[in-house]
Amino acid sequence: MGKKAFGSGEFSEGTQSTPRVEPGLVRPLPLGARSLENNLVLAPMAGVSNLAFRLIAREAGAALTFTETVSAKGLVNRGAKTRRLLASSPREAPVAFQLFGAEPETLAEACRILAAEFDASWVDLNLGCPVKKFIRNGAGSALLREPERVQAIVRAMRNACDGTLSVKIRSGWDAGSVNAPEIARVVAGEGADLLSVHGRTRSQQYTGHSDRDVIRQTVEAIPGTPVLANGDVTLPGHVFDVLRETGAAGVMIGRGAMGNPWIFAQTLALARGEPPRRPSAEERHATVRRHVALMEQSFPDPKLLAANLKKYVTAYAKGLPGSAGFRRRVLDAHELDTILALTDDFFGVREAA
Ligand SMILES: Cc1cc2nc3c(=O)[nH]c(=O)nc-3n(C[C@H](O)[C@H](O)[C@H](O)COP(=O)(O)O)c2cc1C
Repeated sequence: MGKKAFGSGEFSEGTQSTPRVEPGLVRPLPLGARSLENNLVLAPMAGVSNLAFRLIAREAGAALTFTETVSAKGLVNRGAKTRRLLASSPREAPVAFQLFGAEPETLAEACRILAAEFDASWVDLNLGCPVKKFIRNGAGSALLREPERVQAIVRAMRNACDGTLSVKIRSGWDAGSVNAPEIARVVAGEGADLLSVHGRTRSQQYTGHSDRDVIRQTVEAIPGTPVLANGDVTLPGHVFDVLRETGAAGVMIGRGAMGNPWIFAQTLALARGEPPRRPSAEERHATVRRHVALMEQSFPDPKLLAANLKKYVTAYAKGLPGSAGFRRRVLDAHELDTILALTDDFFGVREAA
């Protein structure tokens, strides 16, 4: 699956007609002093998991969301862009604020700033990002090659962070150095409360598939620390498969929720023994409208709003009749009003159909 393959997981009886649903796999997730209402969470996605999308995911049933990744250095240096990325709302709690960086003291200071100035009660450390800019600075998945530095970083963050501390990793740097279980032991040994594992190496970027065997080995390596399995969950049935095969405490969903927040509600319905329901055209239209309205609150600049809306409205259309033409027209549009009119027309027409 390519990185940009968003929203491919609209529930479809044709694609996975009889998901194997064991009772008890989808359940509340106790975590130290707190408990998540279920074990389905929205993944951090830079450029995607902004406040509007996080609220949509929470309303659809995700028990936890992660912010876009934020530079610890940028936060410590009081960068304006960094602060914009941290916009939150009490309505979305709990939310994990994700940091990236390479220096223990900077990351620790960023934790203190998050708690003091952003009321953050949950900080997540990004050890998974494969992007060159991160790697050049020794951050993201570059750290998977440096377990000792990881240890120093998590120790410093743990000392600075009174709330929940979690870490997100990939399976390793490349096929020859898969070390998620080793990194997991380091992270758990330093007192992290939760670990998320994307079962791809840094070299794979977004190619191939998320390796459930490595995730299972990671789960087994840290029996006292809950692990979220991540990667390629695009249908409710996948949630049950991945929980069964890995023994993970929960599932983190990224691209599969883009344009398809219903994946959370549908999975929860299956877990209750109810048939998962597709959203009606009316519900879809209402959700798209609500998403647009939330985006309007976050992006007062119409140009920025227009640019940012395109990826969401096209993702909501994915798989629906006429979506290719809609996508072309939206991508070609420059004005916010045009995008809004195309969107209302596309989803509204469906409502009337
Ligand atoms: C557009 C995009 C942005 C992402 N940004 C981040 C990020 O900021 N932090 C992070 O830890 N992972 C990031 N990821 C990785 C996802 O959190 C997740 O690990 C990955 O997409 C695999 O899960 P999925 O198959 O459910 O999408 C990003 C992924 C995508 C597609």
